[in-house]
Amino acid sequence: AKQTETAFPIPANVFAETVTQVRHYTDSLFMFRMTRPASFRFRTGEFAMIGLPNAEKPVFRAYSIASPAWDEELEFFSIKVPGGPLTEHLQKIKVGDTVLMRKKPTGTLVLDALIPGKRLYLFSTGTGIAPFAGIVRDPETYEKFEEVILTHTCRTREELTYGRDLVEATRTDEILSEVVGDKLRYFGSATRDGETRGERITTLIENGKLFDELGVPRLDPATDRAMICGSMAMLKDTAALLEANRLEEGANSKPATYVVERAFVD
Ligand code: A2P
Repeated sequence: AKQTETAFPIPANVFAETVTQVRHYTDSLFMFRMTRPASFRFRTGEFAMIGLPNAEKPVFRAYSIASPAWDEELEFFSIKVPGGPLTEHLQKIKVGDTVLMRKKPTGTLVLDALIPGKRLYLFSTGTGIAPFAGIVRDPETYEKFEEVILTHTCRTREELTYGRDLVEATRTDEILSEVVGDKLRYFGSATRDGETRGERITTLIENGKLFDELGVPRLDPATDRAMICGSMAMLKDTAALLEANRLEEGANSKPATYVVERAFVD
């Protein structure tokens, strides 16, 4: 058993884990890693409820697990919401601190919710990239798909750093690189970065630039599968475009050609 000293008792249905790494990317984005309980099982792409041991009844928020199911640790990518009941405190965590996690993970952004296909699109905005950070590091993804296209759209270029680093690390990882090969493609865009302002993913799908720049055919339900994670508005607009291209929303109980999950905010 781990030794954790907390001011309040740890509830029975939660794990108390130790922070092993923290990295801040911008004023509003940071990632942290923590120990993984030996008995904690999850499917890559799922989310868990995270809290801090700073109150009798801790505030819990949904966080996508950004590490793949094989990882010895658990990684999370978080926004810092000013005055947010959890993130206000969570953004101050340091290595060695305790983070709480409810024991049951869940979620729809899992490979099992998609029927077999050739090409997998992972459409994300902001912290919506988190579940895909697990998916792109899971060898099963490359066993199931010939090509994996990760798109990440943020307001500024700086906010793309986590995803860029992730892709670079995945491609160069000694073990992963063998299964990933050149199957992993990355498409980042920043929509509010002055002169170099790029376009929303929805616009890039509509005007075809996404496909032209990647050198891939237009969306086709016979070959293409997709996962979407971002704000409510982004999910709605992106899903509508996929539906217009005859993709259909799936779920754990009924696999289909695309799945959706909201990027969680405080
Ligand atoms: P934009 O700068 O044009 O609003 P947010 O922080 O508001 O969630 O936005 C994160 C990124 O997602 C931004 O680049 C934003 O573009 C983009 N975005 C916001 N709403 C949508 C939407 N409905 N469809 C596609 N992209 C969106």
